[in-house]
Order: sequence, then C-alpha cells, then structure tokens
Amino acid sequence: MITVERVRKSFAETTILDGIDLQVREGEVLVLLGPSGAGKSLLLYLIAGLVKPESGRIELGSRRIGMLFQKNALFDSMSVGENLAFPLKELTPLRKEEIEERVRGNLAAFGLAQWYPAPVNALSGGMQKRLALARALIANPDIILCDSPTAGLDPITARQMTDLMAKECAKLNRATIIASHDIPRSLSLAHRVALLSEGRITFSGTPDEFLRGHHPAIDLFLNRDWKEPFPKENPNDRHHIS
Ligand SMILES: Nc1ncnc2c1ncn2[C@@H]1O[C@H](COP(=O)(O)OP(=O)(O)O)[C@@H](O)[C@H]1O
Ligand SMILES: [Mg+2]
Repeated sequence: MITVERVRKSFAETTILDGIDLQVREGEVLVLLGPSGAGKSLLLYLIAGLVKPESGRIELGSRRIGMLFQKNALFDSMSVGENLAFPLKELTPLRKEEIEERVRGNLAAFGLAQWYPAPVNALSGGMQKRLALARALIANPDIILCDSPTAGLDPITARQMTDLMAKECAKLNRATIIASHDIPRSLSLAHRVALLSEGRITFSGTPDEFLRGHHPAIDLFLNRDWKEPFPKENPNDRHHIS
C-alpha cells in the first residue's frame, strides 16, 4: 500500500508538486501519466525516499521497494550477473550459490541467459531495460516503481518490454506505479490511471474513463482541442493521383 497525502516539493522558486494525493493498493497497477517535466520522476523519487518532501506525508506499508529508473542506473563497472546479484547481496541473507542460482534463473526469464558474464555496455538499449527491470524485481519487493519503462525504445522493443512487465508484475501482484507518457502501451498495464499536471493529480480513474471521459486536464494532455495539422488523406483520392 502506498499513501501520498498533500505532498509538496519545490526547487528554488518553482513549485513542481503542489499538493499530491494518491493511494495505490496491494496488487494494483497505477499508471502515472503526465507531460514531460510534470514531475513524474520526482514523485517516484519522493515515494522511494530518495528526495524528501517539503510538506505532506508519504506512507508505505513496507520499505522493500524495487525501482526501475528512467535511465536504468545500472552499474557500468559490474557485469550483467553482478548487477542482478547486487540487491540480493544487499537485502537478503541468501548464500553465494543461492544468489547465483537465482540470478541465472532470472536472466533466463528476462531473455538474457547467455549474458551473465558480459559487461553492461555490451547489451542493447532494450536488453539494458530488461536487466534494469529484472534488478528492480529480483529481491521480491513489496512496492514496484517503474519510471518510463519504454522511453527511448523502438516500437517493437517497447512492445516486448510492455509484455514482460505485464507478465512479471502480475506474477508479483504488488502495489505498482508505472510513470509513462507512452499512452497506448502503459494503459494496457493499468488498473487505474492518474494524470499529473500543473503540480496536482488532475484526474484519477480507469483506463476506459481516461480515454472516454471529458475532462479539461485530459483533453489538454491528449491535445484533444487541437485541429489536425494536415487534413487526413482520403484513400480513394490516391487512385486518382497515381
Ligand atoms: N534536483 C532537482 N533540482 C532542480 N529541479 C529539479 C530537480 N529534480 C527535478 N527538477 C525539476 O522538476 C521538474 C519535474 O521533473 P521530472 O520529475 O523529471 O519530470 P517528468 O518525469 O514528469 O518528466 C522539472 O522541471 C525538473 O527540472
Ligand atoms: Mg521522468
């Protein structure tokens, strides 16, 4: 369970989060949408305890958090296997052999089986994201925070990453927040959607309510009040031209 109440955070004169209220129950996947710079990453950092709020309250049922960082935050100086072993060494009493067994099993589940001894830099962007997700989940956290899990990926890799998240997050069934601006893919994972704009949660509801609802903050985010910049091509016209 994640509870965020009246949380505020500013930098210098600029207020980024201006009274955030949010609750995520155990087993619930909340997708946090919002324009770039709205403060999605900042809110995840606050929940993870990496940044302190200037006011308000953040309560977590547990301190065991798994976080996928927007830029992965993998350890470049360690091998793929060592990256994955790291949370187990830090957080669990498992012995060396048990850790290696768990790491090898996880690498296989994330499609990285033969990369155990490789340096992180040998992996492609999509593989690094999968490794970062595997590292976030390996110590069986109670709370999962995923920051822009498909950012910077090509469409096919983004789809694979989304499918992997659906499978692995469903398996763990924890309180999960996924920050994203990849609307179609992230919505397929969501039980509930929250929109962060102008420092507040301006909408919270089901994916269906988000897509179908008429709400000024959603319309603005989805550019619904915009006119088509170019008229749609009529497929019948194409015949006449060619
Ligand atoms: N440590 C910091 N110091 C100053 N400004 C920051 C800091 N962290 C975030 N910000 C500002 O907060 C705003 C929200 O950033 P971020 O959480 O990264 O947005 P999002 O993830 O929604 O794109 C940005 O304007 C960013 O410049
Ligand atoms: Mg961000």
